[in-house]
Formats: sequence, C-alpha cells, structure tokens
Amino acid sequence: MTTIAVLPGDGIGPEVTAATIELLEAFVPGRLIFEEHAFGGCSIDLHGTALTDEVLAACRASDSVLLGAVGGPKWDTTDPAKPRPEQGLLGLRKELGLYANLRPVKAYASLLDSSPLKHEVVEGTDMLVVRELTGGIYFGEKTRTATEASDDCRYTVAEVERIARVAFGAAKKLVTSVDKANVLETSRLWREVVRRVHEEEFPHLELEHLLVDSTAMRLVTNPRHFEVVVTENMFGDILSDEASVITGSLGLMPSASLGAGDTPGVFEPVHGSAPDIAGLGIANPLAMFLSAALMLRHGLGWESEALALESAVDRALAEGLRTRDLGGTVGTALATQAVLAQL
Ligand code: NAD
Ligand code: IPM
Ligand code: MN
Repeated sequence: MTTIAVLPGDGIGPEVTAATIELLEAFVPGRLIFEEHAFGGCSIDLHGTALTDEVLAACRASDSVLLGAVGGPKWDTTDPAKPRPEQGLLGLRKELGLYANLRPVKAYASLLDSSPLKHEVVEGTDMLVVRELTGGIYFGEKTRTATEASDDCRYTVAEVERIARVAFGAAKKLVTSVDKANVLETSRLWREVVRRVHEEEFPHLELEHLLVDSTAMRLVTNPRHFEVVVTENMFGDILSDEASVITGSLGLMPSASLGAGDTPGVFEPVHGSAPDIAGLGIANPLAMFLSAALMLRHGLGWESEALALESAVDRALAEGLRTRDLGGTVGTALATQAVLAQL
C-alpha cells in the first residue's frame, strides 16, 4: 500500500489540500492511504513547534509527502526566540535532505490572455526552474544583537555538483545557471563547479551563465528563451514567484522537492498560505493538483496517471475554468469538480 503523509498547514493550505485528496480519491480509488498531520502554525498552536519529531518520523516513513502551505499573520513575529511556521518547512526539507526543488513554468494556451504580460511574450513558454533547496543563506548561521544581525551564505562543491547534475539531467538543450558571480564568492564557486560538471559530464548540452538581476528582467521579457534554469536557494525562491506571472497566476505553480535515493519527496504548491483569501473558499487548487501530479510522477513513479491528471487540468482550463486569481468567479469546490469531470 502507498502511504501519503498529508500536511495541510495553514490559511488556504487545508482548503487546497482537501480538494486534492478528494480529487485523488476519485481518480485512483483505494490506491493511496492518506495520513494527515499538524504542521506549521497549527502545530505551533498545538505543540509549540512547527514540526514535531513524530510528524517528521511519519513523513520519513511515508512514500511521499503532500503539503499545502504554512504561515500567516497569527504567527508573524520578528522575535528570533519565537517559533515560526516556516521553520517547519525548512526543517522538513533539511531533515529529509530535499536538495532539489523542481518548479515547472508553463504557459497554458488557454491562459495566454490571463497573464499581465503580452500574449506573444508568454506564448510557448515551457521552462523548469531547478532551485537548490537545502543550502545557501537560508541555512547558514544567523546572529542577532540589539545593534546588528547577520545571515551566513555557504555552499560546498558537493552541494553545487549534485544540483547541477539534476539540472543537466532534466535538460534537452540549454541550461541557464543563474548567480551573482560579479559580487558573491559563493556564486563564483557555483559558476566554476557548474562549468566543470558541464564539461565533464554533459558536454552535449549548452550551458550559459547569467546574473540574477538581468535574469529577473529576461524572465518577463523573453521567457521562451529558457529551458532549464538552475540557481541557488534564495534566487530560486524569488525568480520562481516572478515566473508565475507567465502562467497567469501563482495559483498554478506546482513544485517537487526531491532528495537522494528513496527518501520521500515533498510535493507542494509554490504559493503560500494566502491569508488575504483564506477561509473564503476561493483559492485556486490547480497548483496543488499539479503538485499531486508531480508526486504521482516523481514520488510514486506513476507516469501515466501523472500525465492524465495534468491533461485533465489542461482541458478544464481550455473549457473555461477560471478561478478568481485568473479573472473568473469559480471557487475551490467547483474548480475541483471541473477537473474531476475531465478525469
Ligand atoms: P502567498 O503566496 O501566500 O500569496 C501571495 C498572493 O497570491 C496573495 O494575494 C494570494 O491571495 C495569492 N495566491 C496565492 N496562492 C493562491 C491560490 N492558490 N489561489 C488564489 N490566489 C493565490 O504569499 P504571501 O502572502 O507573501 O505569504 C503568506 C504566508 O505564506 C507567509 O507567512 C509566508 O511565509 C507563507 N508562505 C508559505 C509557503 C509554503 O508553505 N510553501 C510559500 C510561500 C509563502
Ligand atoms: C517557498 C516559500 C518558502 C521558501 C518559505 C515559506 C520558507 O517561500 O517554498 O517558496 O522561502 O522557501
Ligand atoms: Mn517562495
């Protein structure tokens, strides 16, 4: 039996997670066991910490982890001594060794006019952002005194090598490595290592190096240029939210976080807990449905089911499914029915 650890989290997290479980139970009935756990802000309320040892152990023992989103104003604090929901997410990624975060960005033919970018700019975009997920400034030492604060940014050669291999392995033609090598020492190491992995292991592919500032500009002026974009943790976080405007909404962006060997992956939308719309039943569940498709593909190896789910989302959009974030009026429940009707 295949066990999925389900971490709904906070805000719209539980709303899009419930919709996804409803969808999966109808789509692959009896094939998945869902085990739900408190995580993020709601775990802080219950246990004083965003990720308990029990929940971490349950995730480790599962076949895959399906995660909604965490965080919200209730737990927002600038006090370093207070627990934050986001610590649960970072702890889970680190503890499971999920160094590779895949964030596909696709322009749906039926949504070309939903993007604030021009139709002809976004048309045909199909890229994969490969974000390094367990290193860099997110995980370096942090200090804080009354007059000063610091966040340490570190990368080892081995960390860069393994994420570079994921990126080259996913590319057919072009890998764009994004850094800030004109300023940062970690970026200079990054660039050297990516270049060497390219020369030694993937010479048949094309590699280009771009600086992160100009990449931010090129992503929205010529997104079609990109195939696989590989970058460090924080740049990948920022660039992937930016890239979501190509698709039309953050509510369409899925992600897969993968580790080595048979470590269970974590599958979650790129978006957060959206406190501004939480509880209204209007969250777009498609990012989470597409994350579930990534789980079927990368987590469970169910490629044909993954393709069927992705194609159902595609067809539902083609038939006019539009949630609020895409300029429509359809809520979470009806959006779920619209995709189910295509399966
Ligand atoms: P957000 O991604 O939650 O929301 C940004 C904007 O996009 C909001 O206007 C929101 O309404 C909209 N949006 C996001 N997802 C949507 C969806 N599925 N359907 C419709 N609209 C959607 O970012 P934020 O507001 O900056 O962050 C809110 C909280 O979420 C913070 O506490 C942050 O730390 C947390 N966060 C968590 C994750 C995660 O759990 N993976 C990711 C990002 C942010
Ligand atoms: C994401 C989120 C997280 C990140 C936060 C909530 C810690 O923004 O998954 O993109 O920065 O990685
Ligand atoms: Mn983010």
